[in-house]
Amino acid sequence: MSASDRVGDDAGEPLTIVVLGASGDLARKKIFPALFSVFCQDLLPKRFQVFGFSRTALSDGEFREKIGAGLACRYVPGESCERYRGAFLERCFYVAGKYDSPDAFLDLYQRMVVVEASRTGCSIWRFRRFFS
Ligand SMILES: NC(=O)c1ccc[n+]([C@@H]2O[C@H](COP(=O)([O-])OP(=O)(O)OC[C@H]3O[C@@H](n4cnc5c(N)ncnc54)[C@H](OP(=O)(O)O)[C@@H]3O)[C@@H](O)[C@H]2O)c1
Repeated sequence: MSASDRVGDDAGEPLTIVVLGASGDLARKKIFPALFSVFCQDLLPKRFQVFGFSRTALSDGEFREKIGAGLACRYVPGESCERYRGAFLERCFYVAGKYDSPDAFLDLYQRMVVVEASRTGCSIWRFRRFFS
């Protein structure tokens, strides 16, 4: 990743990450802490957002609370960690649904389009990545 793709540079390509199984143990203990670590090292594009997807009904706020508890301040301790934590969590969104429900994936798609448009100012379907 070039320096121009890093946080702080609006010109970098946008990125949307979808985490399937987002309410689960692996997501809480490993996936989101790992994403946060990368974010703290300014290695994610500024215009990135993360969508969690799993069955449990959660609001964005409840989801942020759930994953926020597991984010460690390994790279930016102290006050600056709180700023990074807040900046990271405000990029996290949640959609509830089952893997075998086309309607749920349509919900996810529609939410992504709205959030991406408001956060990046463009359609970024080419820059979506899914993790399960
Ligand atoms: N935990 C670890 O440290 C670890 C390490 C290595 C590998 N793994 C592997 O990673 C996978 C996930 O492990 P985990 O520990 O996170 O399991 P988990 O705590 O049971 O979480 C499973 C996640 O998948 C979601 N889910 C399951 N079936 C679904 C469905 N039909 N539709 C939508 N969402 C569904 C659950 O949603 P709801 O709970 O909201 O229903 C939950 O978010 C497993 O294959 C496990 O073997 C885990």
